[in-house]
Amino acid sequence: MTAPLIDPFQRAISYLRVSVTDRCDFRCVYCMAENMTFLPKKELLTLEELDRMCSAFVRMGVQKLRITGGEPLVRRDIMTFFRSMKRHLDSGELRELTLTTNGSQLERFAGELADCGVRRINVSMDTMNEQKFADITRWGRLPQVMRGLDAAREAGLRIKINAVALKGFNEDELIPMAEWCAERDMDMTWIEVMPMGDLGNEDRLDQYWSLKDLRARLAERYALTDLSESTGGPARYVRLEETGQKIGFITPLTHNFCESCNRVRITCTGQIYTCLGQEGMSDLRGPLRSSESDMPLENAIRGAIALKPKGHDFDYSRQEISGQMSRHMSHTGG
Ligand code: GTP
Ligand code: 5AD
Ligand code: SF4
Repeated sequence: MTAPLIDPFQRAISYLRVSVTDRCDFRCVYCMAENMTFLPKKELLTLEELDRMCSAFVRMGVQKLRITGGEPLVRRDIMTFFRSMKRHLDSGELRELTLTTNGSQLERFAGELADCGVRRINVSMDTMNEQKFADITRWGRLPQVMRGLDAAREAGLRIKINAVALKGFNEDELIPMAEWCAERDMDMTWIEVMPMGDLGNEDRLDQYWSLKDLRARLAERYALTDLSESTGGPARYVRLEETGQKIGFITPLTHNFCESCNRVRITCTGQIYTCLGQEGMSDLRGPLRSSESDMPLENAIRGAIALKPKGHDFDYSRQEISGQMSRHMSHTGG
């Protein structure tokens, strides 16, 4: 291993999130516009380039690799890439290989993912109501995702359900979703909606449901124990004593977790974003393609990490949004 990646605030970078495609078979309203223009294929890193990129980060101390998109499982031949990454798990350099998915393709790929060493997956599901699911994802259909979840459980994958907390949309599902997941031995994470993409300011503010409130409502029903353990992601977890289930809270708005940030993101075109909530990025595709040696790439990675900002500026307080970004969430994969 070469020298580990440490940013200017002494945070070690051990978690890499890699978007392998900008495409998705859903169009979640807070993530994408309905008529997205997708990138031409030649702009994307090839599977071989993705392999070189991730392997360089693993050499530099990344221990957790999360594949995202768009929807990662719609990228052609993506299992070739997962199969190749398994070597880093086998060598012990990588502790976790995982993905965040909308679940639409799990019925087909769950078994292969498990064979590639994936143990745990995060599946985005904001509602258990078929009509509401179709409304929020625009193109998604809940039964398909449910079949995917069944396939993932049969393949032995642990599942965490991600739900974006949306006022007036899924508030009434807090307890039913917790119970439904607990019955299936699945954990959950609730995420505060972030002001990204091209929805008007007012819409996002109207939708915003603070996880402080969500937690208080959960506490009316269950005894909550704060857990100190972490998955290496931004969520803080509680255990529901009645069911043993873990519920996570991702609170960029009510509790900024940037101080302990350990992650960076690579887009499908090989740009590195060192903060989800800032526009700053550097190109890694040029250095990657410039030479067969990985030296230019490694230097560019170190250069980018040296510019990692302290944190995001998202803020909905004073009833207005600041820190909003026009970049769609799908660009960096969440
Ligand atoms: P675990 O390994 O289960 O902890 O996963 P994770 O929470 O790291 O990954 P996941 O893809 O499930 O992330 C859920 C969401 O958390 C992301 O899509 C983002 O919306 C949010 N998130 C993750 N990291 C950050 C971050 O650094 N800053 C902000 N503002 N949000 C983040
Ligand atoms: N705010 C919060 N979470 C979002 N996601 C997508 N867009 C947003 C947003 N604007 C979530 C998805 C998925 C994860 C990758 O990011 O629901 O669970
Ligand atoms: Fe696709 Fe996920 Fe974005 Fe929904 S949130 S459109 S499933 S990438």
